[in-house]
Parts: sequence; C-alpha cells; structure tokens
Amino acid sequence: MRKPIIAGNWKMYKTPKESLAFVSAFLPLVEGHDRDEILLFPTVTSLASVMEAVAGTNVRAGAQNMHWLNEGAYTGQTSPTMLLSIGCRHVLLGHSEQRMYFNETSERVNLKLKAAISHGMTPIVCVGELLAERENSQTEEVLRTQVRTALHNVSAAEAQRLVIAYEPVWAIGTGATATPEIAAEAHAMIRHELAHCCGSQIAQETRILYGGSVKPENISALMAQQQIDGALVGGASLVPATFAGIVRYR
Ligand code: PGA
Repeated sequence: MRKPIIAGNWKMYKTPKESLAFVSAFLPLVEGHDRDEILLFPTVTSLASVMEAVAGTNVRAGAQNMHWLNEGAYTGQTSPTMLLSIGCRHVLLGHSEQRMYFNETSERVNLKLKAAISHGMTPIVCVGELLAERENSQTEEVLRTQVRTALHNVSAAEAQRLVIAYEPVWAIGTGATATPEIAAEAHAMIRHELAHCCGSQIAQETRILYGGSVKPENISALMAQQQIDGALVGGASLVPATFAGIVRYR
C-alpha cells in the first residue's frame, strides 16, 4: 500500500507572516484528512515557524533543499542536523529549478540523499526531462540516468523512505500539465529503474509523485492512474482553498 502524498512547494514565496496566515487558513480546511499525507515546503526563513504551527496536526513541513554535511564553511547552505533541530524530517532534493538555475547535479543529489537517509529523514528526489529531451525521444534515458545517479550506492534497506517526484520541466509553471497517461508512462519508467537499482520490493513500495501544473481541476484524473502516488504542487499550493481543493480531490 502506497499512501499518497500531496505536497506544496512554495518555492521563493511567502514571508514568515504570510506562511503562518496560510497555515491558519489551511488547517481547518484539511482537518481530519487522513487519506493522503499532507506536506508543505516553505522557504527556509518560514520553516521553523511553520513547523511549530503544524505540530500535532495532520500536516508536516519540510525543506526545499539542504547540504549533505552537518556543518562547515558553506555560505548560504543549511545542514541536515540544522533541519532536524527544528523537527524537520522531509526534504526536497534535485528540484529542476535547482538543477537549472543553481547547477545542481545528480551526483550532489546522491550525496544529499545519502545524508538524508543516514539522518532518518524522508527525501523527495525530483527528476524530469526538458521539452527538447522529450521531443528527441530521450525521456527514458534522462529519467534512468537521473534516478541511477541519485541512487548510486544506496541499498534497498536505505531506500525504504525514499520518495520520487516526476516533474517534467516543460510542465512546471507553464499550465501544460502532462496528461495522466504521459505521467503514468514516465512513472513506470522510473519504477523500472528503481527495481534495477534497489530491487522489485522497493520499486513497488516507493511513492512516485507527479508535479507540473497540478490544479484542483486535473488532480482527480492524475490520481486515477495506478502509477501516480500523489502530487508535488507549486503555484496552486500558495492559496489555502486551492491547495485544500487538491488535497481533498475525489
Ligand atoms: P507548478 O510547480 O505546480 O507551479 O507547475 C511544480 C513544482 O515545481 O514543484
């Protein structure tokens, strides 16, 4: 059984005050909702106060990125132990905006993934192809390489808590959602690669989320696909009622 995850990625939006206003409006809208795990990924300045505000509820919060070391002279970075110190156990890794604008590589995602695992955190590793790669029939190869590199030397035992987010870059923030069939096909490719890296049990148990222009209007059709185990939502996660509409899809 793969319990679905509906996660909101706030990117570089919301001050701490705005984040707390979101949480106050959002919690009553999803109170008692247990069918899906609900996650919020605020920016780092809001994370500690959001962690406090959701404590004891059915909502969890996580970080949008982290370094793999516990401390050091790495200006601008946040470490796993710093996140753990505020109770944060979820982290996004390898988001396409990190890859595109900040030169994130799958090799570094591998280091971060191993750090997250060794600290008992739940990493959500983002993978996805560019439009040009899809048009050149390279989708499978790109996904395979991203997954294989991120999981290099990660054993089945270590991959227990792993979550993958398939986010085709051409669908992020563009309104051009992948069709449920295209997404399901990519998820199947990722699951196949997971089996290669960590064995068939991990492949069957790992939750693979879809991300890229998810909205209240398209979540049901996406979730109807047996391969899709949840959603990573950007723009539509910024407004409490809209995100709650996605969480409570039917
Ligand atoms: P979007 O972003 O929902 O705004 O397309 C998704 C993401 O980048 O995680």
